[in-house]
Amino acid sequence: MNLIIHDLNEKEWAKIASDYEGWKVISDKGDISPCAGCFGCWLKTPGQCVIKDGYDKMGQLIHSADEVVVISRYTYGGFSSFVKNVLDRSIGYILPFFRLVKGEMHHQPRFHEKKPFRFIFRGENLTEEDKEKAKKYVKAVCINFNGRIKDIQFWETEAETGEAAEVSKEQEVKTETLFLNCSLRGDESRSRKFLDIIADNTEGEKLQLNVTPYLKKMDELRDEVFSAKKVVLGMPLYVDGIPSTALKLMELLEKECAAGSAVSRDKKIYVVANMGFFESEQIGNLLSMVKTWCEKCGFTYCGGIAIGAGGMMGNVIKYGHHGPGKFVYEELLRAAEAINASGVIGDIYTKSYKFPRIGYIMYGNKGFLMKAKENGLRKRDLYKKTC
Ligand SMILES: Cc1cc2nc3c(=O)[nH]c(=O)nc-3n(C[C@H](O)[C@H](O)[C@H](O)COP(=O)(O)O)c2cc1C
Repeated sequence: MNLIIHDLNEKEWAKIASDYEGWKVISDKGDISPCAGCFGCWLKTPGQCVIKDGYDKMGQLIHSADEVVVISRYTYGGFSSFVKNVLDRSIGYILPFFRLVKGEMHHQPRFHEKKPFRFIFRGENLTEEDKEKAKKYVKAVCINFNGRIKDIQFWETEAETGEAAEVSKEQEVKTETLFLNCSLRGDESRSRKFLDIIADNTEGEKLQLNVTPYLKKMDELRDEVFSAKKVVLGMPLYVDGIPSTALKLMELLEKECAAGSAVSRDKKIYVVANMGFFESEQIGNLLSMVKTWCEKCGFTYCGGIAIGAGGMMGNVIKYGHHGPGKFVYEELLRAAEAINASGVIGDIYTKSYKFPRIGYIMYGNKGFLMKAKENGLRKRDLYKKTC
């Protein structure tokens, strides 16, 4: 069995479908739910997503495939929101437990194979720089998924023409600063905690929103973004990039800007991104994607704070200047100062304060086992291969 994941529309797919006869095809039927970030695929129903919408067995599908082909619209250096959604829903393919690969933290494989992946990016006038970004990105994805890149291709496509959608709300600026939490874990998320520290130290009128209540009314969220002067995006790193829900919103905003809608481009964008692994540098692809998106929309990218060891930092950040979160806390305060001055923070890769990576790996791996036990599972259940 071979597997193809693509975001082509019916007409585009019809042109190449005969090349993939007999393949398992995953395409956008508009019925995929976003990853809820619950880790159920690791710690409740190992290898399987808890959302039963037909995309819950992606890990098993990837495992069963002799090769995986991914065709995606080139989106800010990575995948489109649909393809990204499928990959976000596929992390059951790997195990929760941490290991080191070439000096970086990654996950242990569930299956002992190096899955061959072929990537095809479709885009208009892709430059060498664009291509390099995508190559760097899929390399990171393959390390994470214990895969191997068999091929990367770039297909030139025609420009997608869209009409300006109805931006329903008035376009004058309503909010000084919008703090938008793009983690579907909402108030429970680490993203929320980091955003709150910045918000608590920011002056002027502010609006703090979680993306979750807007999943079925993204247009409203788009309008909230358009009507803010400064936007601070809080998000987790998912599969080395932007979580699919945030990407969907970004695509929507870009579409509106590209269609020449009369919305204000005078907007400053800040990001605070956190991740499970220790080395915050792994957030580099995500920050680059947000920057590229800003360029596409005509917004001003003002930089991002990258936070490694998110699982721990989210718990210790409440100790402020004390404890392993000291440096992160200080950068969040500095970001608030920059936002107050409508200034730039640049891209900042934070480190933990006096807390070694080995300690974090042990803390994380033990935490997974404890969570599994709470869910009535034994250690060996987590390694399940038939899902
Ligand atoms: C689908 C999915 C993919 C993830 N991919 C990565 C990754 O590529 N690298 C990483 O360090 N952490 C990854 N994580 C871990 C999250 O970034 C981490 O748990 C983060 O602290 C969650 O933040 P939040 O509480 O704000 O949602 C992933 C988590 C999920 C659910």
